[in-house]
Amino acid sequence: MTTAISRQILQLKREKDAVILAHNYQRSEVQDIADIVGDSFELALKAKTLEQNTVVFCGVHFMAESCKILAPEKTVLLPAMDAGCPLADTISAEGLRRLKAEHPGIPVVTYINSTAAVKAESDYCCTSANATRVVNAIDSDIVIFAPDANLGSFVQQHTRKKLLLWDGHCIVHQRVLVEEILQVKAIHEGALVIAHPECQPDVVGMADVVCSTSKMIPESKAAPGDTVIIVTEEGMLHPLKKAVPEKHFILASPKLICRNMKKITLENVLKVLESGENTVNVDPMTAKRAMVPLERMLAISAGTKTSKKMEV
Ligand code: 13P
Ligand code: SF4
Repeated sequence: MTTAISRQILQLKREKDAVILAHNYQRSEVQDIADIVGDSFELALKAKTLEQNTVVFCGVHFMAESCKILAPEKTVLLPAMDAGCPLADTISAEGLRRLKAEHPGIPVVTYINSTAAVKAESDYCCTSANATRVVNAIDSDIVIFAPDANLGSFVQQHTRKKLLLWDGHCIVHQRVLVEEILQVKAIHEGALVIAHPECQPDVVGMADVVCSTSKMIPESKAAPGDTVIIVTEEGMLHPLKKAVPEKHFILASPKLICRNMKKITLENVLKVLESGENTVNVDPMTAKRAMVPLERMLAISAGTKTSKKMEV
């Protein structure tokens, strides 16, 4: 639905030569005024080819920061500067340096849900869309994987390499319990279960498909029945319902809400467009070093194809 505020945003966006990027977990009304809605990988990839001078990034801080690192010449605005990611905050550059010192010479793969300072200490980045692919592309039998231990455990099932895991978790996906999946499956018998790999291993073990947020769209389209159980943040239901209107989507748990993602509103999007405030900046030396693992991820991901459960 187009409201007065969304019309104002769209007009101002054109006047200011701005583009709006939004993550799949954003509020529905924010997704609806965005030029591009996607998962972390798609949004990072898009950062490289933007024509506009200003990017309003509707997501959490590490996503806007990654955009700035990949497109340093752009002005990146984050409508809510306190939209952080508790998973990214489970590891510091100092913590990663300590882990590296304990395992000298072992390459480090860092999930994109991390600060620029942590990326700067890493050899490769990955997202949930390419983690196994990135790990398997590395010429080493042992790999340090940080900070999400659940994603790391999932990758461990699909690689011969030994992963040394950092013990970080997403507080949102971690909340979902096997009992909830059992309950919802009992109500919706035969429904396909699609889970994000940030869920706990026993929850992931119950899923029919494990993939990044955007990949849930084609997987739902291909689902055999008319009902799909979704085990990720509730914002994902909006792009799913839009893209796959013929299916019925069930959120596995009411606890699947990321409060940080919801800090972005139409009001604060309009405010940063008007004021130009909330610019995301990264120290140039840190950005230069953090660009290397991000670029390596993009290079590994380019043009490579894998099978279904190996997709993550
Ligand atoms: P995606 O990369 O799958 O969009 O996930 C990002 C995220 O923050 C999951 O919690
Ligand atoms: Fe971070 Fe979890 Fe929120 Fe994703 S859902 S942004 S990993 S806290």
